Amino acid sequence: MSTDPVPAGDDAAPAGVFVSFEGGDGVGKSTQVALLGEHLTSLGREVVVTREPGGTALGLELRRAVLHGEHLDPRTEALLYATDRAHHVASLVRPALARGAVVLTDRYLDSSVAYQGSGRGLGADEVERLSLWAVEGLLPHVTVLLDLDPVVGLARLTGDPDRLESAGDAFHRATRDAFLARAAADPDRWLVIDATLPAQDVAALVRARVAPLLGGVATPGRGDAA
Ligand code: TYD
Repeated sequence: MSTDPVPAGDDAAPAGVFVSFEGGDGVGKSTQVALLGEHLTSLGREVVVTREPGGTALGLELRRAVLHGEHLDPRTEALLYATDRAHHVASLVRPALARGAVVLTDRYLDSSVAYQGSGRGLGADEVERLSLWAVEGLLPHVTVLLDLDPVVGLARLTGDPDRLESAGDAFHRATRDAFLARAAADPDRWLVIDATLPAQDVAALVRARVAPLLGGVATPGRGDAA
């Protein structure tokens, strides 16, 4: 299977700008996705806000199965996330990038590497290969990591915990450490932000990181993204 990552914006990759938001549960990703989306829309960009799992109709069925269904072994769980992602990228993300949109996704393949690879112990490298195969190597231009102590993040959540939120302290600590290690290994792609900062301060840091990408976006349908 193909394992070479292809950053969005390389010659063979689509135009557009692709930004993912990552982090533990309760770190404020959806707030930041919404704030960046509003900002970019006000600049006149087409913005596609989406998420994993569940960014498509099939994805919603998979989301219910993986978060609220019966017990799943870790490999089944990893494959369900990869299936959701493959369909999400093929049917929604790539077409949007190809027409020059900015795609903001609440979670992407780094969640699988952290949660299934490290949290579930399947191995980061194997889960990364599976994930890259599922999306034919498509990586975001920027991945924003909202970093927070999982004890604080989980305490912010309301409602009944889903399967992943219930996975225990050691699982969530391993997941946080995996995100931080991945970010440290690829600072060109990652922006790490302290999620205890006020939401508007976080949003300003995100906007500053994304701004330089916008000018370089080619006319939809041709050329490079970044
Ligand atoms: P999320 O939508 O962020 O949760 P919520 O809407 O409840 O805030 O993500 C759902 C859960 O799925 C979250 O606990 C992280 C987990 N997850 C993985 O374990 N692997 C993955 O690849 C993805 C995308 C999410």
